Amino acid sequence: MEQYVIKGGAPLVGEVEIGGAKNAALPILVAATMTDDTVLIENVPDVRDTNVMMQAMESIGVVIERLDRHTVKINAKNIRVQAVEDEYIKKIRASYYLIGALLGKYNEAEVALPGGCNIGSRPIDLHIKGFEALGVNVKIAHGNIVAKADHLKGGHIYLDKVSVGATINVMMAAVLAEGVTIIENAAKEPHVVDVANFLNRMGASVRGAGTDVIRIKGVAKLHGTEYAIIPDQIEAGTFMFAAAITKGDITVKNVIPKHLESISSKLLEIGCEIEESDEAVRVVASKRLKHTHVNTLPYPGFPTDMQPQITVALGLSQGTSVVTESLFENRFRYVDELTRMGSSIKVEGNVAIIDGVEKYTGASISAPDLRAGAALVLAGLAAEGFTTVDDIKYVERGYEDFDEKLRGLGAMIEKVSTEKELQKFKLKVG
Ligand code: EPZ
Repeated sequence: MEQYVIKGGAPLVGEVEIGGAKNAALPILVAATMTDDTVLIENVPDVRDTNVMMQAMESIGVVIERLDRHTVKINAKNIRVQAVEDEYIKKIRASYYLIGALLGKYNEAEVALPGGCNIGSRPIDLHIKGFEALGVNVKIAHGNIVAKADHLKGGHIYLDKVSVGATINVMMAAVLAEGVTIIENAAKEPHVVDVANFLNRMGASVRGAGTDVIRIKGVAKLHGTEYAIIPDQIEAGTFMFAAAITKGDITVKNVIPKHLESISSKLLEIGCEIEESDEAVRVVASKRLKHTHVNTLPYPGFPTDMQPQITVALGLSQGTSVVTESLFENRFRYVDELTRMGSSIKVEGNVAIIDGVEKYTGASISAPDLRAGAALVLAGLAAEGFTTVDDIKYVERGYEDFDEKLRGLGAMIEKVSTEKELQKFKLKVG
């Protein structure tokens, strides 16, 4: 089994290039199947989730050609079936996007109920409610979601809770529905806007993405296009926090600073210096971090996908901090691992009360999910001595070349799969 082995203690310093946004790439790859024309997509991150998604798309007859590591050409004119039961697809949450896309194009879809990171119960009731408002009959049978309509017609949907997935899924189906669809209380995340922009480039008429009311005027058909995915807000945020946690100096390049405002403002609050330019943000942490309070919220609030990273930082700060997780109930599972590294954090329900400690100490730990896994790696990089992180398959779902990018910043980290390789690393770094 592969694991990361880390020798901590050195500040991370240098520049790092941020890749395309995983959570924009997943729906955009799927939305590309909504036309029979060929679509070219650039800046696709080469991570497990996007690769699994493309494998599942190929299993139903979508032709995908990789022009280079981050550019794909997609043609979906010969989709064989609208039923996707690929064994891999159950492993990724974003497989639900196939329902919206196939429904829009063919008025029917059958997709295995999604899995995904274990961060709490992940209902899809809002997606279903949205599809039903478009005149679709949805039922769950034999572990699959089965959705069917005579034809899709525009509808008015109020999402009871702000949901990225439901907003994007309903938006995809609605672009090919007859008439106008209004989605109220829509998610405003940058990736929602990116998907809307992509759909518009294919000939859709989506207005208001990025606000909480999205208006979609159905069109008869979509056409081919070329599109580059936006930079990954969470990958960028993770490296920004790597600077804070290791008392380093990191410039994240190829980012949209506006998307990083909630992250930058928390870093300022805890005592880091931030320098912004057009496509880069530099984070410098020279002193011990200060405590603060954080509440995760939908965009433009502080992202739940950055919650473990900020908790790891606050675990090393002066004083007591409180982190409230408002979106997912099971997103503090990594705290037990962090306790083994010497942190002092008490979790009560969806609130973590953090008493900052001077330092972490290396330990053998496991990644419970994607973002927590990345955050634990950062903890290991700040810790005294050696840390091993198991279950790195979670981290690889969403971070491309994570260890390599960290090494580029001076980190002592390696991916190993045998005891011999582990010992070799330890001998090498001393
Ligand atoms: C997306 O998940 C992301 N995944 C998640 O990123 C991210 O944590 C989350 O948005 C919030 O930003 C992808 O984009 C593939 P939601 P999603 O629907 O769409 C509740 C990562 O680390 N809800 O916005 O599934 C839900 O329980 C991953 O990259 C319902 O009640 O999240 C949650 O409390 C992990 N009913 C809230 O809404 C529904 O039908 C927001 O979830 C749908 C959601």
